[in-house]
Amino acid sequence: MSLADQADSQIPIAETIARARETIQRWKKAGEAIAFVPTMGNLHEGHLALVRAANASGMRTIVSIFVNPLQFGKNEDLDTYPRTFDEDILKLADYKVDLVFAPTVREIYPEGKEASTTVYVPVLSDMLEGEHRPGFFTGVATVVCKLFNIIEPDAAYFGEKDYQQLLVIRRMVQDLALPIAIHSVATVREPEGLAMSSRNAYLKESLRARATEIYSCLQYVVKSVQEGMDSHYAVGHACQQLESAGFDTDYVVVRNQSDLSVPTKGDKSLIVLAAARLGNTRLIDNIPFELMQSH
Ligand code: PAJ
Repeated sequence: MSLADQADSQIPIAETIARARETIQRWKKAGEAIAFVPTMGNLHEGHLALVRAANASGMRTIVSIFVNPLQFGKNEDLDTYPRTFDEDILKLADYKVDLVFAPTVREIYPEGKEASTTVYVPVLSDMLEGEHRPGFFTGVATVVCKLFNIIEPDAAYFGEKDYQQLLVIRRMVQDLALPIAIHSVATVREPEGLAMSSRNAYLKESLRARATEIYSCLQYVVKSVQEGMDSHYAVGHACQQLESAGFDTDYVVVRNQSDLSVPTKGDKSLIVLAAARLGNTRLIDNIPFELMQSH
């Protein structure tokens, strides 16, 4: 379906900021609240879980589809990132989506992305994913802030799959006093455990079975640390397991859930996070967990 064919679809699609604002202002005037789900499209069950949560709020639901060039590094997959707009709209038709906002790059970055004002969330943006993908979280925070300013949602929904991103957004909303409730939705997985991701499409069939190893390693770390094993030892073992399954590991770490700081004795709400490359596909995953007693 091209945008011109949108009359066939039940869901109104706004390509411009002006069009989106027109519709949204009408709802706001009528006293209606707005739940917002930002995405880069190529929708799968993970995204749809966010849409379901937004629907359950009883508010108007707006989904954005925008492959944000500002969050892709020079050697990353901006050009090959899967763009499946027509299929995405069909999938959304199963839900109560009141508006899809699908702007062009020019609409979001009229002066060019290099010339754009940016939003930088310190500390959180520089560790883990930020260390391996410089500028990534500034790209994310900038576009999400702009989308928030366009949509003016009352609530927005993000996946725990991208846990560090979720914390960056929460921090931005707190620091900039944005009046938006940020809700998180648990990671949706394939039956064998692989976290759903648009980038899984890059995995060759032969590598797909091996990709589940990342989740098994995370589960191993959770279980071992909960049973009292030193987390450095558990993480070291998990890294070895990943390497022998053919991964190039960027990191496997146990951190505090609240701010991704390094846990100290007595910290109980923890999360294990991993990033590893398999062939030309970079996978990230995490499992939040609790310790019954200090380790
Ligand atoms: P995208 O990767 O399309 O993801 C959109 C939302 O879906 C994010 O909140 C992400 O955490 C969530 N999501 C993805 N896979 C999931 C899964 N398996 N289970 C649960 N939630 C999942 O994340 C982005 O886009 C962009 O960075 C964006 C926030 C839209 C800014 O450009």
